[in-house]
Formats: sequence, C-alpha cells, structure tokens
Amino acid sequence: MTQAFGDEHTRIKLETVEKYLNAYTKALKQQSFTLLYVDVCAGSGASIPRALLTSQDDCGGQQQLLEAPAFAVDTDQIIVGSAIRALRITPAFDLYLLNDVKKSNVDALRKKIKSEFSHLYDRVTLSQFDANKMLFTLCRETNWRSNRAVVFLDPFGLQIKYETLLELGRTKAVDVWYLVPVFAMYRQIRGDGLVLEDGGRSVDEALGTTEWRNVVATEEKGQMDLWGVSAPVSKRAVDVAWFEAIAKERLKLAFGGQVVDEVLPLGRNGLHEFSLMFAWANPGDKARLASKLAKAVLK
Ligand SMILES: C[S@@+](CC[C@H](N)C(=O)[O-])C[C@H]1O[C@@H](n2cnc3c(N)ncnc32)[C@H](O)[C@@H]1O
Repeated sequence: MTQAFGDEHTRIKLETVEKYLNAYTKALKQQSFTLLYVDVCAGSGASIPRALLTSQDDCGGQQQLLEAPAFAVDTDQIIVGSAIRALRITPAFDLYLLNDVKKSNVDALRKKIKSEFSHLYDRVTLSQFDANKMLFTLCRETNWRSNRAVVFLDPFGLQIKYETLLELGRTKAVDVWYLVPVFAMYRQIRGDGLVLEDGGRSVDEALGTTEWRNVVATEEKGQMDLWGVSAPVSKRAVDVAWFEAIAKERLKLAFGGQVVDEVLPLGRNGLHEFSLMFAWANPGDKARLASKLAKAVLK
C-alpha cells in the first residue's frame, strides 16, 4: 500500500531530515544515551507524487491509498517515506517509535519493515494514536537523562497542538523537525478579514494563542457614496510569511529560544504551503552542535 501525496517538495523535505539523522547518530554514537527516532505522522512508508495521478485520481490536496497503482509508476518515482529513510541510517538508532493515526498506514509500514528491515524489527514500536496523545505520553514517561530523541512532526495540516510543542520543549532532550503548515493557517482568514470558525480554532490550538486574531484584519476607507460618505471596508492584513514569523516566535517560546533561524519554505508549484523548522530542547552548550548540524542541512 502506497500513499498518494506530495511532490518534489516532499522529496526535498525528506532528504533534509534524512541528512540530519545521518549526522545525528554519527555525532552521538560515542555517548551512552539511548537514541530514539520518533515519527508521529509516519505514513505508510512510501508515497507517489500527486503529479503522476490523473485528475480523476486526485483527492483535492489530501492523500489517498493505493493498494496497487492503477497506472505504471517507475520505482524511482516513488518517494521513500520518512520512517524507511530513518531505518536506513547507519549507525542505526536504538529505538524507532513510528506512529500514524491511520490503521492502513501502520499496517503497511509494519509489512515493509518485516520484509525489508527484519534485523531492526525488535527496535521498532508501531502505534496508531493521535500524534499529540502519543507525544504527550512519550514526553512524560521517558527518562530524559538517559535518552535522546529526534522527533519528526510531518502533518498534512493543523494537527499538531501547541501544548505538544511545550511538552517537547520541557524534555530538554529532544531535537524537533516540524513541518509547520503556514498556508493552512493563512487560509483560515477570508479576503474580507473574517476568521473561519472551525479553522480559526485549529490555528488557536496550533499557535497556543488567540492573539493573532487581533491583527489579521484591517479596515480601509471604502468608496464614497453619493453623499460623500465612505463606509469602512475590512480586509485581510497578513500573508503566509507573517504566519511563518509568528509560528517561529511561538516555537522559540516553547524551546527557550532554541530555534534555528533558517527555515525551508516548501510547497507545490512554488506555493509557500509549509515551513520546515528545527528546534532543540537541550539548553546545554554541547547541544548547540544540533543547531550547527541543522543549519548545515538547511543550506
Ligand atoms: C504528510 S503525511 C506524512 C508522511 C510520512 N512522514 C512520509 O514521509 O511518508 C501525514 C501523515 O499524518 C497522518 N496523520 C494525520 N493526522 C494525524 C494525527 N492526528 N496523528 C497522527 N498522524 C496523523 C496521516 O495519516 C499521514 O499519513
């Protein structure tokens, strides 16, 4: 089973995180920590670029699952997913915690790991929880004196809650790659500045604040009527870049300022849909190496 989503930007995102993982296990191999790779939106292990689907196959920005593609796809066109990339890293992580909310994805991933990574199977834990719930338990129940982790947050939309980012920051031990859905935040504001009800609530939860609502609309003078009176017209006052800046500020707040300033903008056809950001929770001097590695792979 292969998911159908993504495009060239998906490949770039995954290669960036993969480069970091490669450097991470090499850098920490002499230390006594147990190293965890935590992928909370792990998917099925592979995806097919949406551009390869015919229009009737497309699913409007979301994923679909293909038992066997109904069209010919070269194997080199299949995008290898984050979890499989992590399992290929040498030296290997000590534990792989792979999670997806969809059972079909978890089943597909299990099947792939059993057939292709049987030598690592006893290091893998597969689960099917909401990402926030899974991370909350992990952050609270792990001994962060002896464990270190790289956490990859790779959602389609506004699924990751700010509360979860706060929990990750409190561990003082995890490095986080977060694909921030900046376009999904932006599109909850209509052109006339009105914030959509449900979507707006999701933005509140993702940013952990409602303050953004105070500045996203502005009023301008409208056209004058016959009596020379103009009624004010409301319009959207922010753009995607503004949401990127706010999301970074919020992430900094959760990680004691420890967020790399360089950000990778990603999206289909030149659209800025996501911003890949890196944060590290360990305040120690040695842990600054994490930011150096992340900056190097973000170049
Ligand atoms: C962009 S895909 C991630 C793909 C994966 N990282 C890869 O490289 O193939 C997002 C994934 O998040 C999963 N997902 C959506 N909402 C979720 C949630 N609340 N908790 C956990 N997983 C979720 C979807 O089922 C989907 O597989």
